[in-house]
Amino acid sequence: MTLPNLLVTAALPYANGHIHLGHLVEYIQTDIWVRFQRLMGRRCIFICADDTHGTAIMIRARQEGRSEAEVIADMQSAHERDFAGFDISFDHYGSTNSPENLELCSQIWSSLRQAGLVVEDDVEQLFDPVAGTFLADRFVKGTCPLCKTVDQYGDNCSKCGATYSPTELINPTSTLSGATPVKKTAKHLFVRLEALHEFLDSWTQSGEHLQSEIANYLKGHFLGNPLRDWDVSRPAPYFGFEIPDSPGNYWYVWFDAPIGYIASTWQWCKKNNEKLADWWHSDQTEIHHFIGKDITYFHTLFWPGVLKSAGFSLPKFVHIHGFLTVDGEKMAKSKGTQVQAATYLKHLDPQFLRYFYASKLGPRLDDIDLNLTEFANKVNSDLVGKVVNLASRTARFIETVGLAPEYPHDGGLFVSAAAAGDKIAQAYEQVDYSRAMRMIMEIADQANAFVENTAPWTLKKDPNQQVRLQEVCTIVLNLFRQLCVYLAPVLPKLADQCGQLLQSPIQHWNDSQTPLVNSPISKFEHLLQRLLPEKVQAMIDESKVESTPVESETLASTTADAPPAASQDSGDALAAEPMAPVCTIEDFTKVDLRVARIVKAEEVPEAKKLVKLTVSLGGDNIRTVFAGIKAAYTLQQLEGRLVVIVANLQPRQMKFGLSEGMVTAAGPGGTEVFLLGVDSGAVPGQRVH
Ligand code: MSP
Ligand code: ZN
Repeated sequence: MTLPNLLVTAALPYANGHIHLGHLVEYIQTDIWVRFQRLMGRRCIFICADDTHGTAIMIRARQEGRSEAEVIADMQSAHERDFAGFDISFDHYGSTNSPENLELCSQIWSSLRQAGLVVEDDVEQLFDPVAGTFLADRFVKGTCPLCKTVDQYGDNCSKCGATYSPTELINPTSTLSGATPVKKTAKHLFVRLEALHEFLDSWTQSGEHLQSEIANYLKGHFLGNPLRDWDVSRPAPYFGFEIPDSPGNYWYVWFDAPIGYIASTWQWCKKNNEKLADWWHSDQTEIHHFIGKDITYFHTLFWPGVLKSAGFSLPKFVHIHGFLTVDGEKMAKSKGTQVQAATYLKHLDPQFLRYFYASKLGPRLDDIDLNLTEFANKVNSDLVGKVVNLASRTARFIETVGLAPEYPHDGGLFVSAAAAGDKIAQAYEQVDYSRAMRMIMEIADQANAFVENTAPWTLKKDPNQQVRLQEVCTIVLNLFRQLCVYLAPVLPKLADQCGQLLQSPIQHWNDSQTPLVNSPISKFEHLLQRLLPEKVQAMIDESKVESTPVESETLASTTADAPPAASQDSGDALAAEPMAPVCTIEDFTKVDLRVARIVKAEEVPEAKKLVKLTVSLGGDNIRTVFAGIKAAYTLQQLEGRLVVIVANLQPRQMKFGLSEGMVTAAGPGGTEVFLLGVDSGAVPGQRVH
């Protein structure tokens, strides 16, 4: 009997941001599993796509003055390039904004309708009158209704932990435009999940599809009570698919995103002359999803519910991982620890990260820490010191003679390492890569002890020992090859290099079971170079960004560093800058731009980017404005200068005081900020037209 085929997915990354080292935990984890399965000879396809819909993309497109289609196309090619740089071996990388996805969404939607699972209800939501859009929780900030801490997001308070609805915030403002949102009611469509309660109970609690802590979490937090209806529509304007039988309403991004798994598979099927039903409707295929813990309930409640109702196969297993921290802390742009994939690749070999993550990832949900010192040490001591070392200390010595005619006596090293293969394979299968890496490094330790004891570099010097030298090198290179087979899911490049060196490509896990003999070897070329700690530092330095050009630290830095929100709207998070909707003359004249003179510039010691400016608008019209220009100007350069300020901006309460306006400037931020000025002769208080 042949084993079922495998269809493996990783979560579809949002098209509103670049891939960073946190995402890569998942894509590397999944890729290792896929490569392992292929190496075992399993038929396995790896499907992913960009997740393109939602408010965030719509806002970004407006900000950039481009169409959504352009924005998502650019991001998709950046994502694909980053993933290729880390050797992520997708069989297909699609997009949720595809005709296939629209067709599948419509089909699944009809099934839900037919099953009587869709209901309508009015929802009161905050609406930004300036941006002309409803505001997802993450686009609203205000004062916590409980503990009164200012500057909190619409869904929960970072100070006291309270969760609430954005309409409960005191003094809410839209992070898009700074406007005060108004409450507005609109019709939404809901899926009645409660109708699937019994099914979800048995599916989640069967012990077959979820890690036990996830099953318990669902039982404790959701399944003990009636399940709430799931809000799956958003009123226009929204970037997404319009619901065919509900004009003016769009499927919420989290409705169409997982359907993207099927749509992307379908695209792959079309390219490869395969039938979609063989992958999503067949007991000859097992579906495995890999996701992070922040998106658990989408994948373990809503998604199985949808699949079940629409008659598709359910996932065999949803593998859930924890979050990445760097040096024990949440990644932060300001510290340079939110490193983008592309930045990493400019400085370091992707295999370093693949190995390090493998050595840290277990089957549980613990967060994993990238301690930068440990990273450098581990990579150098394990990969360079224990593995690559075996080849670099022996291969050159037998370049001309090749491997010995027969496998020499090695004291049982090869056989015992071959016997460990099953256990290592089992660890990979169980996504327990850290255990697999530990077992592999134990084998490497034994191989290294053999090298030390036999000292081939000494044999090399003795003309009478040349046969022994060939034997010793044959043993060591075979042990090296065995390690390369075991590490191949993690280090595909090293496995290729080993295949070239020994002129026998690594194609199957069983290549670890039989030694190579009596064959030529290629000229030795450098395999993996040492990791240089100064490169790690250079990467961190390059990743440090000052978040926002002028206005407040409160806006831009927070969204990217925000905790995974346990909110349906977490998908709409965005590194928001104030947006620029299309502007009529009337709109423009609403903005009161005035010439102002900076009369005082002061440090704000607690703020990394801000300076506190006291500006005069003429007469006794004196204001305080906080501006994120610390890195670009000295206090002396600022005092006395004429600038242009937005004088009628709604005052904003910041951690450090009230900001009563905004200084205008150009440039990306950080050290590159260019204050807008006026020619001399202008007088503070004059209006800018
Ligand atoms: N678009 C959704 C997924 C839709 S799947 C139908 C999404 N995208 S994401 O870009 O925010 O995240 C993609 C994956 O990366 C998620 O599984 C998420 O958990 C994971 N990670 C994002 N940041 C991470 C860390 N800092 N650490 C580990 N995984 C992280 O969610
Ligand atoms: Zn609070």
